[in-house]
Amino acid sequence: MNLNRRKFIKKTSLSAAGIGMFTVLPSSVWGAKVAPSDRINVALIGCRNHGFNILRHHLNNDDVNCTALCDVDENVLNDRARDVEEAYGQTPRRYRDFREVLEQRDIDAVIIGTPDHWHCLNFVYACQADKDIFVEKPLANTIAECDIMVRAAKRYGRVVQVGQQQRSNPAFHESVQIIKNGEIGKLRQVNIWANFNYGIGATPAEDGPVPAGVDYDFWLGPAPERPFNQARFHGSWRHFWDYGGGLFSDWGVHLIDMALWPEDLTGGPQRVMTYADDTSEQTAMRDTFDTMNVIYPKKNYVIHYDMTAGVQEGPWGKLYGLAFVGDKGTIVVDRAGYELHPEYDNSINDYKTEARTMSDAGESHGPHVRNFLDCIKTRETPLCTPEMGYAAAVHTHTANIAGRVGEPLLEWDDTNMRFTNSEAANQLVTPEYRAPWTLPEI
Ligand SMILES: NC(=O)c1ccc[n+]([C@@H]2O[C@H](COP(=O)([O-])OP(=O)(O)OC[C@H]3O[C@@H](n4cnc5c(N)ncnc54)[C@H](O)[C@@H]3O)[C@@H](O)[C@H]2O)c1
Repeated sequence: MNLNRRKFIKKTSLSAAGIGMFTVLPSSVWGAKVAPSDRINVALIGCRNHGFNILRHHLNNDDVNCTALCDVDENVLNDRARDVEEAYGQTPRRYRDFREVLEQRDIDAVIIGTPDHWHCLNFVYACQADKDIFVEKPLANTIAECDIMVRAAKRYGRVVQVGQQQRSNPAFHESVQIIKNGEIGKLRQVNIWANFNYGIGATPAEDGPVPAGVDYDFWLGPAPERPFNQARFHGSWRHFWDYGGGLFSDWGVHLIDMALWPEDLTGGPQRVMTYADDTSEQTAMRDTFDTMNVIYPKKNYVIHYDMTAGVQEGPWGKLYGLAFVGDKGTIVVDRAGYELHPEYDNSINDYKTEARTMSDAGESHGPHVRNFLDCIKTRETPLCTPEMGYAAAVHTHTANIAGRVGEPLLEWDDTNMRFTNSEAANQLVTPEYRAPWTLPEI
């Protein structure tokens, strides 16, 4: 669609005349002003699973109204509207087309809970419509889209929180402070592991009819046209390159984000050394890899990512986690807590640093959402910026691209947004959008 703001408003105003079949619009909406009220009116775009979880974390705050829900699956839309009514006594308006949601002047902020291939369009249009945005991770499904979104947020001055909620988790926060304070000495390695059964892929299914109530063409949006298949649809789209990046960009992105935090590293990786393959014999449907080992050499330390989908045992008795290895000690951390394991110094018969633990880090979505809500009011910068979302996502996308083109070593030039040693890899930086959708230009 590639619309500037004026054209966007004009276009969506016109389309509102023929509003979708689920829309119920009170006439007062058109005259409403975005008042700097204490209550924040939010809309959710993409309601089925995690988007709705994040909406609930918004609605657990007294200063939030759910003004609208939007989904291309009428069944999901109606179920979630009922859930909101039952749990919170609110009656959100219902939409199928997110552009109509963005036109509503009484909406202050949107939550983007769509599959990854939709994030960029949802996000850029929301920026152009002056909405603040909670966007789920990974920031987008390709490197070029991530870059466009960073620039859109800046250009339109939006308050944006990326759903990398470990930035609001006390175990990760304290671990990073310990490292920054020098308590584990020089940070030398960050070893990450992510082993999850679900990463193996979807239950195989044949192509079949589109379920009643689903606007499948809209669900595909900018992605290539193809027959409907349940295995590529709700939930399991994440295992197919057209819509997601597999276990690495789905879960690994959270962990990469933490590995960059001790030095507040921004941008994509300069070098990516990748092993990516399918080593499991389990039957599943997916495009993405079940096994990856990736090394990112940084100036002062090295990040190593180790992923085995289809198993759930891992180092330190944890199915996922990070070990920050310093020369005085190692911090092992997951969402529940951390343990600092000190090195022993034989020359003084003592430990080089103090052992420490945290075991009750608690839930992170609530505080992450609260931080977003506070920033909407203060116009301060939330804890996880689009730049942080870009850095984490692009680390995962570059490694996935390396696996897809079979190049074990890729060099990435973040300024010029290209790989300097592989033209095949460059072909996967920017997606080809299916008409009528076009990649936004910012
Ligand atoms: N932060 C976290 O811990 C976390 C956890 C899970 C998922 N996620 C992220 O949340 C997002 C959603 O994942 P999910 O598991 O909820 O997926 P899902 O498939 O369960 O739900 C996506 C919903 O979006 C709807 N949708 C698709 N295109 C749409 C469009 N153009 N407009 C409106 N609705 C549309 C679908 O019909 C579906 O209801 C993904 O980006 C995922 O990576 C984040």
